[in-house]
Amino acid sequence: MQARAVAHANIALVKYWGKRDDALMLPEAGSLSVALDKLRTVTSVELGGSEDLFELDGASQPTARVRALLDAAGIHQKARVISHNEFPTASGLASSASGFAALAVAACAAAGQERTLEQLSALARLGSGSAARSVPGGWAVWENESARQVFPPDYWDLRFAIAICGAGAKGTSSRDGMRASRETSPYHEAFIEQCRRDLPQALHLLEARDLPALGALAEKNALRMHADALAADPPLLYWQPATLACLHALGDLRAAGVQAWPTIDAGPHVVAICAADDAARVESRLRAVEGVREVLTCAPAGGARLDRMS
Ligand code: DP6
Repeated sequence: MQARAVAHANIALVKYWGKRDDALMLPEAGSLSVALDKLRTVTSVELGGSEDLFELDGASQPTARVRALLDAAGIHQKARVISHNEFPTASGLASSASGFAALAVAACAAAGQERTLEQLSALARLGSGSAARSVPGGWAVWENESARQVFPPDYWDLRFAIAICGAGAKGTSSRDGMRASRETSPYHEAFIEQCRRDLPQALHLLEARDLPALGALAEKNALRMHADALAADPPLLYWQPATLACLHALGDLRAAGVQAWPTIDAGPHVVAICAADDAARVESRLRAVEGVREVLTCAPAGGARLDRMS
């Protein structure tokens, strides 16, 4: 009645930004991501107590989203869920993807359920859409009920340098931001259509290991997602001054011959995609940007898995 699982957060190169079904958590368009090794969450689930309990990094949290996932899995016993993010503290990095992926794997194991990766991905999706991609890990594509791994983590020796731009919790959650964009942004439909074109193209470039073209596609996809969000009513501005400074710094690096391209989720942090050989140079350039608090360089990681308890 007890199990522990680990999962990694992921960064999307073709973004998920809009649901076609809010209750079922189905995306309007497909997305492509890669799991990141240093963004790891460990979650343990113990079933059979007298009440639900959810603790994240030592602090008690509301249990509603955890309970919804357990109910969807047919687990009706009370659960004690203890989760730890092994991220640098106070980075403000999102953890719902790794958190719900680890929860789905740990909860099903604690309940003695045997589920396929596909079923676990579909279950994690009900907690958070992007969590569907953290279950298979590696390079993952999510279009419908579940995500699938399209290439393993060791397929391509890339690095993802995360520049922490700004402190603590962000303003509007991804969930609220993507709903507001869908309901009020005049650019939303255009963004969704763009994603439908970008996904097959990105997969083709991934297959060809074409970093300049894939990096440029990821940068445009992210900036167009932010254009969609900026055009919402009221506007959604996720950037800090350091965010923009990082975009310019990466442009300068490329002009100097270093191949590195940015992507940005629904927050201020910039993730620079580059070859492993260029990672040290990219990291030190981003560290020199005013307002950047820390830079964390990650490699691709695998999927969610059980962590045998000693
Ligand atoms: C900008 O998966 O956090 O990171 O499904 O509502 O829980 P919910 O949202 P979430 O959204 C992630 C949005 C994004 C882009 C992406 O990861 O594809």
